[in-house]
Amino acid sequence: MPILFDSQTKTFRLDAGTSSYVFCVDPNGFLLHLYYGAKISDTDLSYLLPAGSWSSFSPCAADAGSFCFDNFPLEYPAYGAGDYRVAALSIQGENGCASTLIRYKGHAIRQGKYALAGLPAVYAAPEEGVETLDVTMEDSLTGAEVHLLYGVFPDRNVITRAAVVKNAGSAPFSILKAASAAMDFPTMDYDLIHLYGMWAQERWISREPLTHDTRTVGSLRGSSSHNHNPFAALVSRGADEDHGEAYGFSLIYSGNFAIETECDPYDSARLVMGIHPTDFRWNLAPGESFTTPEAVLVYSDEGIGAMSRTFHKLYRYNLCRGEWKEKKRPILVNNWEATYFDFDEEKLYAIARDAADLGIEMLVMDDGWFGKRNADNSSLGDWYVNEGKLKGGLKALVDRVNGLGLKFGIWFEPEMISPDSDLYRAHPEWCLRAPGREMSLGRSQYVLDMTRADVRQNLFEQMSAILSGANIAYVKWDFNRNLTEAGSALLPAERQQEVFHRYVLGLYELLERLTSAFPHVLFEGCSGGGGRFDPAMLYYSPQIWTSDDTDAVERCRIQYGTSLVYPASSISAHVSASPNHQTGRSTSFETRGNVAMAGAFGYELDLTKLTAEEKELVRKQVAQYHAYYDVIQNGDLYRLISPFENENVCAWEYVSADKREALLTFVVRRCKVNFASFVRMKGLDPNKRYREDSGRVYSGDTLMNAGLNLTRGWRDGDSLLLHFREIEE
Ligand code: DGJ
Repeated sequence: MPILFDSQTKTFRLDAGTSSYVFCVDPNGFLLHLYYGAKISDTDLSYLLPAGSWSSFSPCAADAGSFCFDNFPLEYPAYGAGDYRVAALSIQGENGCASTLIRYKGHAIRQGKYALAGLPAVYAAPEEGVETLDVTMEDSLTGAEVHLLYGVFPDRNVITRAAVVKNAGSAPFSILKAASAAMDFPTMDYDLIHLYGMWAQERWISREPLTHDTRTVGSLRGSSSHNHNPFAALVSRGADEDHGEAYGFSLIYSGNFAIETECDPYDSARLVMGIHPTDFRWNLAPGESFTTPEAVLVYSDEGIGAMSRTFHKLYRYNLCRGEWKEKKRPILVNNWEATYFDFDEEKLYAIARDAADLGIEMLVMDDGWFGKRNADNSSLGDWYVNEGKLKGGLKALVDRVNGLGLKFGIWFEPEMISPDSDLYRAHPEWCLRAPGREMSLGRSQYVLDMTRADVRQNLFEQMSAILSGANIAYVKWDFNRNLTEAGSALLPAERQQEVFHRYVLGLYELLERLTSAFPHVLFEGCSGGGGRFDPAMLYYSPQIWTSDDTDAVERCRIQYGTSLVYPASSISAHVSASPNHQTGRSTSFETRGNVAMAGAFGYELDLTKLTAEEKELVRKQVAQYHAYYDVIQNGDLYRLISPFENENVCAWEYVSADKREALLTFVVRRCKVNFASFVRMKGLDPNKRYREDSGRVYSGDTLMNAGLNLTRGWRDGDSLLLHFREIEE
């Protein structure tokens, strides 16, 4: 029974794996947060609450004696009635006032994990024993009924949260803010870790102590963005990969989001996570409901590494869906960096022929196959084949490629429209636009109004025609600019601030329709590289193109940061040409393979231009991919040397669930003359004996304590892959 309610003290205790989460209803009906951390046995934790308040400047809530919101830990804090910290909820009533006060009305405990209407969320099989707690709060003035949902996994340190706001009153009101989760901590002795970046430099790790201020990690770009990821962790000072506490917060959402932290003068800390409140207002008529995206909370008292491994398993097995969720992904070759827009059916066929010879399993035709597109300035929206370029049409090409034994994949950028397109000439009103304001161009394109059912229907029909007109096995779904002038022609003035969220809901609806209609197709997410690498997209596409920066040395940081939350199976990574197209850096073929091997593996170069020696290396990598697939994709990740903390090298390791196999990757990002390098392995069985492929045998405890001496005559960009298997003596 992971959810316990003590009716004497009106306390809820949620036991998730080796963690506990406790909150109570106070005599005034307010929901007070009491504890989140390592598992505990007591339920009544009211002794932890402050004994009183100390400042006349902190008003007491009406009818609540000396209770003062200002210094109490709150479960879902509302704005405007005495809690001056960052709020989770703000509702503007018909009278225009936004002061919000919610009190406990009741609760229900249900078997199974709740689902969220129209939004992606983690799910669980009945045998996983997940339970749902639904706490109903109400605002007697506006009639708002707020359902706080908790999903509790009994065998994992995972609690999910979401809120549903229902207008149970008789007058309309507006939601100005409805966060997915809020969390009050009694101390502020934490570092905030989050992932920031930009195009070609996604998800770098930032770690700073909390201070007495309010901070926001977020996006207002209409997508989760290259710049910030919808993830943050609060970790105890000094916590590292293996020690200390880590509280991970991940939002299953692809649009504008905010993760706000605030530390108050009492030295307590608050974190609030959800849809960004800027330019957001959702109108609710009586009887209507609004559902927030889902927040996922992961607790670890065994460091940041254990937090990541919990996220990896949850997202791989309880968020990704469909046929490809656990199926071995085909090794693909994508023609983007091989040809850019300059290709025809013969060039693609030549790449496919070499691919087949080398053991690669799928050809992906990237941007430039449709309308009259030969550069990035036309044809988005015209999803029909350019037969001038692909003579004989798409089916003929796909059949020929299939004839080589290869699958065929194709690129789309469904949400965009070029001013120079038949679609734009027919439907200029289908773009997002703010009346009277000129539309901004990004990469010579506008953004389609995904809030509109007619736009989504058109896209569904055009894409379905392509996907059913030939044997397409894979779709790369790209998104190459952020939203501006986010207005919709179909919505009245008072609903324009719903557009950002409605856009995301429209995107999810189209993705749901297409993935259901074409269940055999493997979808890969993409946004100019990893500009929309978020858990919500993983619900529809089990892998996402990680970055347009394909330089192996740069990828070490990008993939290392990404691995804080996301599993290897989701991190699409390709071997590209050297010198690298983005950085000009030359890196050995082996290193490019060793780094790409840490994800959903493929190639992104012109195979016809490889030397005989390089082709042999491709064959070797293909064999390695098959040999190491299981340990990488189904094993546990241990990060060993961080490329953010070490200027010269980085290392990571995968260990199979039964601890019989391990794979260590070591990369010299920047060489220094005569430098020594030692690495201690992790996660092995101390009592097992492991043979490294070259023959040397070590015991697990030796590898984890004495470690390995990796000092060699390294050069920039060198790397090493060491594979260990248990031997039975
Ligand atoms: C951005 C993607 O990240 C690239 O891989 C490629 O598909 C281009 N778009 C095509 O325009």
